[in-house]
Amino acid sequence: MTPDPITKLGVLVSGRGSNLQALIDASPAGQLGSASIGVVLSNVEGAFALERARRANIPTCVVDHHGWPSRDDFDRAVVRELQRHEVDLVCLAGFMRKLGRPLLDAYPSAILNIHPSLLPSFPGLHPQRQALTHGVKVSGATVHLVTEDLDAGPIVVQRTVPVLDGDTEETLAARILHEEHLAYPEAVRMLLKGGRVEGRRWVAWPAPSQNPLA
Ligand code: GRF
Repeated sequence: MTPDPITKLGVLVSGRGSNLQALIDASPAGQLGSASIGVVLSNVEGAFALERARRANIPTCVVDHHGWPSRDDFDRAVVRELQRHEVDLVCLAGFMRKLGRPLLDAYPSAILNIHPSLLPSFPGLHPQRQALTHGVKVSGATVHLVTEDLDAGPIVVQRTVPVLDGDTEETLAARILHEEHLAYPEAVRMLLKGGRVEGRRWVAWPAPSQNPLA
């Protein structure tokens, strides 16, 4: 993405929406630069995230993933809603659907996801459990661009936490979640300042080595 002074975020959710809340809270504080949240879209009617959006006077919509002839049709319906709200950057925040081509093609290098592990370790389901089972001493949160491969796109921001001997899945998840809420606004801010994808890497623009002030 090139720098753009006015950006509308579309946040896709399925559940409790604490990362959405972090983005909502960051927006008036100016921590998202000139960006604002244009719509919160859920595939689940009763998601608490929708309530958070309503409380913040952000438009909401529900696109149920059931009943479409194909997954692409569901994706196309999501794209229509995002375009209707003039969204130019999509943030997945606990959105429990894998994205297909229609969404990826509509928003090339402009879809972010947050995952509660230090990718590429522990992609997919139950990453905190995977981290504990593996016995790693450090874990964390990753915000990355979404590609067609699950949890494998270019990394924009990572934040780390220690894994303690007495941790359960719940205590580790809570420690990581705290960092998620810092990482997501930071990643949005960085993306909006501009950057580019170079192979597997997302590189801020201008790259640090080319920045005379760095
Ligand atoms: C977060 O842990 C996020 O990393 C993962 O799903 C969870 C969503 O939590 N993708 P919330 O709905 O943002 O509270």
